[in-house]
Amino acid sequence: METTENRQTIFSGIQPTGNLTLGNYLGALKNMSSLQSAYDCIYCVVDMHSITVTQEPSTLRKKTYDLLALYLATGLDPTRSIIFVQSHVSAHAELTWVLNCLTYMGEASRMTQYKEKSKQHADNINVGLFDYPVLMASDILLYNTALVPIGQDQKQHLELARTLAQRFNAKYSPTFIVPEPYIAKVGGKIMSLANPTKKMSKSDVNENASIYLTDDADIIVRKVKRAVTDSDSTIRHSASKAGISNLIVIYSLSSGKSIKEVEKQFEGSNYGIFKQAVADSVIAKLSPIQQEQKRLLQDKTYLDSVLKEGAIKAETLARRTLAKVYRKVGLIPRQF
Ligand code: TRP
Repeated sequence: METTENRQTIFSGIQPTGNLTLGNYLGALKNMSSLQSAYDCIYCVVDMHSITVTQEPSTLRKKTYDLLALYLATGLDPTRSIIFVQSHVSAHAELTWVLNCLTYMGEASRMTQYKEKSKQHADNINVGLFDYPVLMASDILLYNTALVPIGQDQKQHLELARTLAQRFNAKYSPTFIVPEPYIAKVGGKIMSLANPTKKMSKSDVNENASIYLTDDADIIVRKVKRAVTDSDSTIRHSASKAGISNLIVIYSLSSGKSIKEVEKQFEGSNYGIFKQAVADSVIAKLSPIQQEQKRLLQDKTYLDSVLKEGAIKAETLARRTLAKVYRKVGLIPRQF
């Protein structure tokens, strides 16, 4: 990693569960790749977060490699960034314990994601699910992270990480950088194809609502053609045309053209032609990624070497922070 003194650190993590969507790619992964030129980036596969809900062990293992290969296929570069799996660096769990002892029950109980997931998984409301945001705070705080690229749904969790950093710094002495959310200049929110006023989500039960990163060309064409639009016929980005606006954003982000350029290009055209063009641009963007991911998944030796290198680099940084934290709270250092 090219570390220069004034480069800020970015940390981001994705869970290796669920089916990632085009929204995850255009809203997150694509930006994660471009951030590498200006920041020291640390990209984590957060497998320990995933076990807060029931997982089939063999599926979790497979999906962890799938996500690692996807990271690499979308351009995350292990020679420039630290790419690793959370459970390989035990300091994440260890810092979580210390931060647990600084987190109030009331604070953790107010997390809306915890409340929502408790409803969804009513048969398994476990302590880990409750503690999920503290583990996330540890991910971030271990690496002197300045910026965390997150969507709206993770704002409250980042706020807790900030609170815990400030609380620790005030109670002991300045130790943690207080992280800020990183809001991407481009990218942003991709909406559901079935209900364009709702975000495209990997947990949506309606398969037609999302384009999955694993969808092949035929499926992408079918889903885009079925996307909900209005009864008008002008291809214009506007608040009253949520469906068409969403497709314009998708086309814009996957083709690299501005919204204005897209509107101009399809002036006088019709929805059928436009939808085909949207599908084609999505396919052109996703299919090379899918091919590269597939190729990488056949090379476990390489993937394992990336994981090893990433874990070693992350561990070095994380241990340094954890040692400081342990010392400050009064845990005596091991002398053996
Ligand atoms: N909770 C995040 C999500 O579901 C994933 C995550 C875990 C994360 N640790 C993180 C994101 C640290 C950013 C930084 O989206």
